[in-house]
Amino acid sequence: MKLTMPADSRLLDPAFVFGVATASFQIEGARDSRLECIWDRFCATPGKIRDGSNGDQACQHLQWWAQDVELISSLGMDAYRLSISWPRVLRQDGSLHAEGVDFYRQLLRALKAKGLKTFVTLYHWDLPQYLEDAGGWRNRQTAYAFADYADKISRELGDLVDSYATLNEPFCSSYLGYEAGIHAPGHTSVAWGRQAAHHLLLAHGLAMVKLRQNAPSAMHGIVLNFTPCYPATPADSAAADKADQYFNQWYIKPLFDKAYPSCFADLSPADQPQIRDGDFDIISAPLDYLGINFYTRHVYSTAADGSFVVVDQANAAKTDIGWEIYPQAFTDLLVDLHRRYPLPPLYITENGAAAADQLVNGEVVDTLRLDYYQQHLLALDAAIRQGVDVRGYFAWSLMDNFEWAEGYLKRFGIVYVDYHTQQRVIKHSGLALRDLSISRRG
Ligand code: FCB
Repeated sequence: MKLTMPADSRLLDPAFVFGVATASFQIEGARDSRLECIWDRFCATPGKIRDGSNGDQACQHLQWWAQDVELISSLGMDAYRLSISWPRVLRQDGSLHAEGVDFYRQLLRALKAKGLKTFVTLYHWDLPQYLEDAGGWRNRQTAYAFADYADKISRELGDLVDSYATLNEPFCSSYLGYEAGIHAPGHTSVAWGRQAAHHLLLAHGLAMVKLRQNAPSAMHGIVLNFTPCYPATPADSAAADKADQYFNQWYIKPLFDKAYPSCFADLSPADQPQIRDGDFDIISAPLDYLGINFYTRHVYSTAADGSFVVVDQANAAKTDIGWEIYPQAFTDLLVDLHRRYPLPPLYITENGAAAADQLVNGEVVDTLRLDYYQQHLLALDAAIRQGVDVRGYFAWSLMDNFEWAEGYLKRFGIVYVDYHTQQRVIKHSGLALRDLSISRRG
């Protein structure tokens, strides 16, 4: 089973970056050598994680990191996207925790020694619990605490990092965490969600200044996720547009247009976030690149009250997590963003599929995932042919890991993890991505 691309595809250019991605809480384990984070607390709350699990062990990456670096290298990748655990590298008094910093330093050194580019995300959702106790992302001070963390860690890591991302998916941190309650810290308030989103974006802008100062030769940006919104019928286009503004444009428009989308005015005054003069100037700091995460689309119809409601695509092909497989939305999204905003170069920082994988006779034949990658790489190629400047593509994920509210039930890896033995086995999709990546080097 192979992945094939047209011979003239930009993806086959050796300068195009192929990589794999992970996040600290999802793989690291070693809970006892860092501070508590909001996901530890959330996992300990009954009913929040589908299999009742937590991140205490995960993929035991703190023990297995050297083998994992070998694995990434053996996959023929150009780059690795990882995240740093804030509660592992800073103490509650704001001082650096040397053991935590040393871990990332040795990891990054090992990656560089293998010739891999390092893409580091500073915040992939593991907020220190003591900050949540003081209001978390509802509290404006958290944005300043984040900038301080970004400052301290980027001074330590120097030129070991090729690319920094401030935040991963502020939509998930704010909407899922403070508004829908399905991610940590599990709050359910529109006002809190909107305020959290504003403070996350502010945190991003404040951190960009520090990163530029401390790592002038690295690339700096942010990672946003998009779930494109389609109308169920032509009469539902206004509803789909509203959903798009609320879930997607809310996080990107302030970066380029210094404003929230017009649906801001639909919020009751009590739900509107507090914004101070000058905030948008901070938020819209120039980006060297924008990271895009894409998995699926949503279809909307008009709700009785004139707002929007998701329509399940009952007969559509879906991945094991129930997300529709609709690669055309990937092309549509990239072309649409390119038309709307003066974008910097783009990197696809996550794309991938969950599947009910089985390890049989030492092999994982993950045909669904392989097909997903094939279709989405072609959809990406189609967007590039329409003029979108995409420089790289990261598969989510290097290996099966703790999938947030789904626990260990959903497998997204191109490498299978046996959680009892921690054995890693490259799946067929991983072998195919490896062959594609290696083929570009002639
Ligand atoms: C994204 C997250 C990532 C992973 C994938 C499946 O929203 O950034 O950590 O859980 O979804």
